[in-house]
Amino acid sequence: MSLDFPLDRTAAPVPGAERRAILADPGFGRWFTDHMAVAAWDAEHGWHDGGVRPLAPFTLHPGAAVFHYGQEVFEGLKAYRHADGGVWLFRPGDNARRFARSARRLALPELPEAAFVRAVEELVRADAAWVPEADGGAGGEATTPGPAPSTSGLSVSDPSAPDSSASGSGEQSLYLRPFLIATESFLGVRPSAEALFRVIASPAGPYFPSGVTGVTLWVTETYSRAAIGGTGAAKCGGNYAGSLAAQTEARENGCEQVLYLDSAGRGTIEESGTMNLCLVTRDGELLTPALGTILEGVTRDTVLALAPELGLRPVERTISLAELRAGAEDGTVTEVFAAGTAAVLTPVTGFKGAGHAFTVGDGTPGPTTLALRRTVLDLQYGRTEDRHGWLHRVL
Ligand SMILES: Cc1ncc(COP(=O)(O)O)c(C=O)c1O
Repeated sequence: MSLDFPLDRTAAPVPGAERRAILADPGFGRWFTDHMAVAAWDAEHGWHDGGVRPLAPFTLHPGAAVFHYGQEVFEGLKAYRHADGGVWLFRPGDNARRFARSARRLALPELPEAAFVRAVEELVRADAAWVPEADGGAGGEATTPGPAPSTSGLSVSDPSAPDSSASGSGEQSLYLRPFLIATESFLGVRPSAEALFRVIASPAGPYFPSGVTGVTLWVTETYSRAAIGGTGAAKCGGNYAGSLAAQTEARENGCEQVLYLDSAGRGTIEESGTMNLCLVTRDGELLTPALGTILEGVTRDTVLALAPELGLRPVERTISLAELRAGAEDGTVTEVFAAGTAAVLTPVTGFKGAGHAFTVGDGTPGPTTLALRRTVLDLQYGRTEDRHGWLHRVL
């Protein structure tokens, strides 16, 4: 039985003037749109009760498994408004497949890829007025007038999202957050026989408002993110809860983000808290840690695929911190950047750890990083031809 997502439109959308004020400076993850996509699953009936409904809080039994054992997975992708007013998703099928892989790892039910994409599409259609113009501003008029703010506009920060204080340049979008939680009330450690799926949406401002700046990563030796056989490759809430103390350690040491090393003490680099890491070498390689315990980022895969177009050879392999440091110091590693949906590409201009610090290049964002960033953004916003078939039209 295929899952459908019929719209039950809210009678109380955020008034147009209020929505436009939000879209003028949305920040990241601070405001929510009028609707949410929903679906339910239980062991007896499978997936059912799909729809797009007014955004509303959950009522859950305090015994629900998600509260006790963290059985939860999520995704993050964006809707982009093109210059002609059309609205597009970027590689949503990849997010759908990763969502299913994450669910499998957390013993949650797998939502079929088509249902995932459909839920996201229908939510974006319902909340089209919340998709900002690329350069800021309201995306359109609300189709239903309403008197009072709805339950949207809750000011709740997202732990897996990058800190909005590090935010920045250029393009705006509608950030979409699909998630799946275990809801059976039962205090035993076993897979839940009930689960709820939601997609919520939040307008996202420019990531680097005052120009693309570089970040310094804190190489933590106190914490690791993932172990072989663990949940590192899944996008589950627990990975991010476990990263918060490391993030605090980074801040205390004057760094914006963390660089995680492998948990076996081999000294190999893995990824940042919410982004994959890439190195550019003097002899033309785009080098990134191989998959295994890291998240298989859509942006990582995108830059690997685009590398040859910029004259770079994509290479996925194990990279040690010692190699990175020696390369930065002798100039064989010319640039480093982090890649993820929220920031696209963030230049990494330096590293700090217990008893060491080094810069990359001259300590400013490098030309290859900026060119790759521009190439990805031009694709996402429809300013260049989509030769890879990555764009998915919604409106
Ligand atoms: C741990 C981690 N690594 C990498 C990424 C980048 O993935 P993507 O490019 O699919 O956003 C994310 C963001 O989702 C992340 O949370």
